[in-house]
Amino acid sequence: MKAITGQTAPIWEALRGVLDPELGESVVDLDMIKDVRVDNGNASISVALTIAACPLRDQIEGDVVRKVASLPEIESVDVAIVAMTQAERTALMERVRRRARDNAGATRVHPITRVIAISSGKGGVGKSSVSVNLALALAGLGHKVGLLDADIWGFSIPRMVGARDTSLAANSDGLIQPANAMGISVVSTGLIVEDEETALMWRGLMLSKALEQFLRDVGWAPDLGYLIIDMPPGTGDVQMALARLLPQAEMIVVTTPQKAAQKVASRVADMARRSFMPVVGVIENMSGFTARDGERYNLFGSGGGNELAGNLGVPLIGEIPLDPEVVIGGDDGAPVVRARPESPAALVFAAIAKTLTDLVPPPSDDSCTSRIAILEEQLAKMD
Ligand SMILES: Nc1ncnc2c1ncn2[C@@H]1O[C@H](COP(=O)(O)OP(=O)(O)OP(=O)(O)O)[C@@H](O)[C@H]1O
Ligand SMILES: [Mg+2]
Repeated sequence: MKAITGQTAPIWEALRGVLDPELGESVVDLDMIKDVRVDNGNASISVALTIAACPLRDQIEGDVVRKVASLPEIESVDVAIVAMTQAERTALMERVRRRARDNAGATRVHPITRVIAISSGKGGVGKSSVSVNLALALAGLGHKVGLLDADIWGFSIPRMVGARDTSLAANSDGLIQPANAMGISVVSTGLIVEDEETALMWRGLMLSKALEQFLRDVGWAPDLGYLIIDMPPGTGDVQMALARLLPQAEMIVVTTPQKAAQKVASRVADMARRSFMPVVGVIENMSGFTARDGERYNLFGSGGGNELAGNLGVPLIGEIPLDPEVVIGGDDGAPVVRARPESPAALVFAAIAKTLTDLVPPPSDDSCTSRIAILEEQLAKMD
């Protein structure tokens, strides 16, 4: 890793979270960042692609803008795309080949998959409920979705998606297959049965190691559009491990409307910043309760989500009302988005999913075929 100091250092750090969708490495490590300048809160970044006409250009450019714009000191981002020189392309290919040989520490989450960690600073604010319903709402929009329960010992996802009797099995490659629950791919320690062959792999694992194994030994589909991660409460090991293992991960902070919850949540967001995990936005949960007579009661206060979003300079993605259907759905394995699509909470979840796909667009189906062809040609020449 390059040691970069000075005013542009945070920008370089943030850019480590931008992966080349096809090569799966950070644009910094691939030497694709040619110039970074910052002037009065405006960042100018020059990005070199193997060929300037790469159809994935928009995706890379968008990711660069989002990651850098998530820095508190940056107000605007300009990106200039240039084409690599022949020498640069050769160097890039050498690096890609070296890495393919070493195959060091790669996770099985495909670099194009959008990774969204659902976090909060304190327990019980509804992370798991949000994770499940958001995952299902995204699937409802036609995306291929994975749901990873990173609450290793306090897992609640299997019950919520009605998969308590399911257990994970290894496929012929020795990879663990996610369970299919309601059309999404689900992985949770709650789906690992002690007498299963697979259990051997998990025994005695530390928390962060367990997450690592979930990412490395699970056969996540290569065309997964979104991977939603239900984070454990708090700001500990698992969060840091995630940032290290999946540099493309972004975070949604869940908070309740009251100010105390907001303080805790801002601690999480602080940590996200320090680990260069951009915060996509804030979801306020348990926002208010509307009684049968139409009267609204703000049982847990009001304004916390909006205030947190404002402080972080990120959008408030949605406000989910207190809705008994959420509790019933969670307990019965019938999430409200599926069981009661017309309920107030389900409608908000659907809107949140739509907003999320605007903020973090799904991976594009395009591939830089011509680009790959060039790379392969180079490869052949080097042999
Ligand atoms: N919008 C809502 N309306 C009503 N009840 C809700 C709502 N959101 C969550 N709940 C309920 O609140 C409780 C806590 O929710 P959940 O388990 O999703 O929180 P969590 O943040 O994942 O908790 P933990 O920190 O323990 O993992 C559950 O009983 C859930 O059904
Ligand atoms: Mg939970």
